[in-house]
Amino acid sequence: MKNTIAILCAGAASVMMLATSCSKDPKKPGLEYMPDMYRSPSYEVYSANPNFSDSLTMQHPVDGTVPRNYTFFHYPATNEGYEAAGRDVKNPLVLNKENLAEGKRQYEIFCVHCHGSTGQGDGSIVAIGKFPPPPSYSKGNSSRGGLMKDLTDGKIFHTITYGINLMGAHAAQIAPEDRWRIVMYIHQLQNDGASPIGSDSTTATATKDSSKVTALAK
Ligand code: HEC
Repeated sequence: MKNTIAILCAGAASVMMLATSCSKDPKKPGLEYMPDMYRSPSYEVYSANPNFSDSLTMQHPVDGTVPRNYTFFHYPATNEGYEAAGRDVKNPLVLNKENLAEGKRQYEIFCVHCHGSTGQGDGSIVAIGKFPPPPSYSKGNSSRGGLMKDLTDGKIFHTITYGINLMGAHAAQIAPEDRWRIVMYIHQLQNDGASPIGSDSTTATATKDSSKVTALAK
């Protein structure tokens, strides 16, 4: 008898819970078991925040602060900046197989659809007629004067960083080290795909450590 009453009570309790936990309004969660598990009491990154005068939860960095390991590129997005970078800036990374292979990989993510796999300006969006062909790295002319195959480290890095005309800036998508790896690979495409590393090159065995960026400019 005791057991039957207990079972009846438990049954009634679960029916009540079911009835109250469901809500007709699809925007209301109904009864929640331990709501803290669903809803964190902390503010969401992009939610409004009454504790700050600008109502932002994710505050801007303090003026003048620089992220750790940030590397500067002190050349403005102007023709003068491009020429100066082309003159003064050298690739700070060691030319080795790893860096070159990573440059190729990054190129195939960020550049290939316009510039094409061999750098002839015949990428997929050009092939379907949606985009005017960029100049060939090995045979074309730069719109800023000179031959594409003569573009230097600094000019290519400047172009990836700031873009030019129809080509957008890639500074936000590609870290400086990876931009330099891509620069290495562009040199290979300027040379019709001939690898700048001989098969028995000593640089090819350079240690990983030496591939770290020490200085980007000057
Ligand atoms: C949306 C298509 C597009 C993408 C993506 C793109 N480019 Fe370009 N790129 C162009 C066009 C178009 C030009 C020619 C711009 C001009 O001179 O008016 C160009 C020009 C260049 C030049 C020559 C600049 C000069 O000094 O004349 C270089 C170098 C270059 N791109 C490298 C890259 C690299 C490296 C990537 C990938 C990180 C890349 N581009 C991604 C379209 C693109």
